[in-house]
Amino acid sequence: MNGPLLWFLNRGTGIVLLVVMTISVVLGVLSARARAGRGTPGFVRSLVHRNVALLAVSMLVVHVTSAVVDTYVDIRWWDALVPWGGLYQPVWLGLGALALDLLAAVTITSLLRTRLPHAAWRLVHWAGYLAWGIAVVHGIGIGTDADAQWSVALTVACVAAVVLAVGVRVTGTVRKAIRA
Ligand code: HEM
Repeated sequence: MNGPLLWFLNRGTGIVLLVVMTISVVLGVLSARARAGRGTPGFVRSLVHRNVALLAVSMLVVHVTSAVVDTYVDIRWWDALVPWGGLYQPVWLGLGALALDLLAAVTITSLLRTRLPHAAWRLVHWAGYLAWGIAVVHGIGIGTDADAQWSVALTVACVAAVVLAVGVRVTGTVRKAIRA
């Protein structure tokens, strides 16, 4: 099966996925900073963060399926899971697979959160940042649209949003420590 529709679907979901993942990471960073009694309640931020993350997972399913079923390029279903040995763009595709594996670990441990020690859940959850960063590099390396001006602007905006959110969180933590 091949054709422009599958290719557009793959590219389109890749871009939207990056934006949705970025929103999820930013919400995650900021939800951990929520203060009782101020602004949007922490549980609302966490709920939105979780639902946006689940949306990213569904987009990822479409992104991967459209790449695998498109016979124009040789991408086997296991290339989406195993980060090495791919036949098509092995380095960039491998990074996509690595991002997927990390995202899967974050998703599964989040679904089992109440049954896991908090420290273990938290440690795996940090891999979400890594997954996002690796996915950014995957998109830049493999994307047909990666050189287009709008795509560069979008990627820069995503990176800036995460850097800003982390900056706000770190500043807040340092201020709290100084006050204490
Ligand atoms: C969290 C994981 C992932 C994210 C956020 C992501 C995101 C992206 C982005 C932003 C692009 C660039 C689209 C463009 O500029 O045209 C892209 C392209 C692509 N991705 Fe992913 N991706 C992920 C995982 C994967 C996986 C696991 C596969 C394996 C099947 C994959 C296969 C592809 C392919 C084949 C392209 C090239 C599309 C083209 O021809 O332009 N991606 N992805």
